[in-house]
Amino acid sequence: MRIIMLGAPGAGKGTQAKKMEELYGLPQVSTGDMLRGARAQGTALGIEAARHMEAGNLVPDEVVLGIVAERLKSADLANGFILDGFPRTVPQASALDEMQVVIDHVVNIHVDADELVVRLTGRLTCTGCGFMHHRHFLPPQEEGVCDKCGGTLTQRSDDNEETVRNRLAVYQQLTAPLVEYYGERGLLREVDGTGESPSSVLEKVKAILGTRVTEE
Ligand code: AP5
Repeated sequence: MRIIMLGAPGAGKGTQAKKMEELYGLPQVSTGDMLRGARAQGTALGIEAARHMEAGNLVPDEVVLGIVAERLKSADLANGFILDGFPRTVPQASALDEMQVVIDHVVNIHVDADELVVRLTGRLTCTGCGFMHHRHFLPPQEEGVCDKCGGTLTQRSDDNEETVRNRLAVYQQLTAPLVEYYGERGLLREVDGTGESPSSVLEKVKAILGTRVTEE
């Protein structure tokens, strides 16, 4: 099963992708994580990507396409994957088609804009295991410490209100057209994520995709 997670920043793509990774045994491929990894390593690609990410803009298509094309060749993705944060523009979606990657489902999570801002500005990410806490919705038992692994919790540098508002505007302009793109291809699976807990959103995903991966 090859799945794309679609939705505005903060809609819960990463949260659901991690739960689906456990449920279906399919690796999560997050372009945001890959770009942040390159930035942390200080590679030329990471330094170039950081300029765009800090401002809440998209990294140029050719940069992202290069790392995704390379990642999709990995043996661990042979039986399927969950793309989280890619594609994010129509040219990226067309490039994926040209790579002859057959997608089974595009899960589009909707959340109201006001809730997105609250979710993102309160998000706390574990530097150890990547688990996401939230200041209000899922506070850690001990401040600054991940409940899951004891790692340190940090706020992403692009999760301040000004950058979040720009990310939402960029989403509307460049990523929202993918709803029509995949709708026309019959691949879109709509999930309402507003005011729902992560587990209840997962229940909706399971109701649409099933509870396990079926062999092709
Ligand atoms: P990326 O890391 O992909 O960020 P994003 O798309 O902005 O998405 P987020 O990770 O912020 O949100 P999410 O939907 O995953 O929500 P989450 O589950 O974390 O990209 C970052 C940057 O990298 C981009 O701005 C761009 O510059 C660059 N980039 C990446 N891919 C690119 C591409 N393909 N092309 C070009 N540039 C690219 O949840 C958010 C918070 O809400 C968490 O605290 C969570 O605990 C909480 N939460 C989640 N679900 C619920 C719920 N149901 N109820 C209550 N709280 C919830």
